[in-house]
Amino acid sequence: MGILSLLSGIWGGLIRLPLNLPLPANNANWITFHGPLMVCGFLGTVIALERAVGLQTRWAYAAPLLTGAGALTLVFGFLGPVGPALFTLGSAAFLIVTLRVVQLQRAFFTVTMSLGASAWLTGNVLWLVGWPVNRVVLWWVAFLALTILGERLDLSRFQRPVRWAPPILIASLALFLGGIILSVFEQTPGERLAGIGFVSLALWLGRFDIARRTVRQEGLTRFMAICLLAGYVWLGVAGVLLVCFAPLGFGPGYDAVLHAFFLGFVFSMIFGHAPVIFPAVLNLPVAFRNHFYGHAGLLHASLLLRVMADLSGWGEGRQLGGLLNAAAILLFLVNTVTSLRGNSKIYSTRNSRSCSRTTSTGQGA
Ligand code: HEM
Repeated sequence: MGILSLLSGIWGGLIRLPLNLPLPANNANWITFHGPLMVCGFLGTVIALERAVGLQTRWAYAAPLLTGAGALTLVFGFLGPVGPALFTLGSAAFLIVTLRVVQLQRAFFTVTMSLGASAWLTGNVLWLVGWPVNRVVLWWVAFLALTILGERLDLSRFQRPVRWAPPILIASLALFLGGIILSVFEQTPGERLAGIGFVSLALWLGRFDIARRTVRQEGLTRFMAICLLAGYVWLGVAGVLLVCFAPLGFGPGYDAVLHAFFLGFVFSMIFGHAPVIFPAVLNLPVAFRNHFYGHAGLLHASLLLRVMADLSGWGEGRQLGGLLNAAAILLFLVNTVTSLRGNSKIYSTRNSRSCSRTTSTGQGA
């Protein structure tokens, strides 16, 4: 259901570029719901599934099943509030799952992930009651940013602590979340404040994430670190763009802010973590190969083209960049699936040291 949501969401995004592509039985949902399909239908379902696998409790699967069902209603063209309602129920179930994780392990990183789940639920409730996507999208951004931050904090616990890192992190989070809450009442100042929070979080992650050290290693560990560091650069870029283009509405500025975050930051994280998350969720080994740099390089180069084209008003450049963004995601799926079928020896001999650990919330490290 998640993958179906991803593919139909990408198709809808390509039509919005605009590219002249057909739609099944004139189902305009794919265009209108490009954002919700990508964020709630794909990312929400996959994240909730990963957490359910980590928790190893049957009821936790309610969350991905509900959001997956919500995605199906949008993909197959049911109008009305059914899809948004299913996403809302799914995110409420996911919040309960994250609270259970907090109960099992009281730690800053589990609370951060739970805050992310609350942000997702808030965005979905606002969307369900009729707020437009451009007014709820920052809540969805907060869901993904806090989930990823929580995972990185979990993995960075093994580093020697720096005394002044926690207060700076809390100040950055206060700016980021305070800005998003303020944006509900005062859109432009709130979004600008949130943008400063993005930059501050990006600098914090770039300075304190373990990736700064692991980038000097080899193989999969190095690949993951490069994806993470590139993602932090895009998070900072998204923040600067948000400060410049607030209030979020539509058009090239909107496109640049959202995709610097969703493609540059979130998908770079997905590309980096996929070789260890797939084995954890599907129980299948992934053979890391150097051509993984192909989909990662294509993603960043095409996004740079798209954002530059957005900023300079070059329509064809934006279309080409968007098309190549989609190609990068498809190439990633092909490279990952073909590596899943690959021989497990490559995985276990070259990368076992960096990939075999499973974290306290059940994710591969
Ligand atoms: C893969 C290639 C992608 C293409 C070609 C694409 C294309 C587009 C376009 C053209 C817009 C409209 C921007 C405007 O108003 O001018 C848009 C909006 C949006 N995109 Fe994407 N996108 C892609 C990937 C993603 C991803 C990966 C995500 C999230 C994970 C995402 C989330 C959104 C959201 C939330 C909106 C706002 C929708 C709205 O206001 O209705 N996009 N996208």
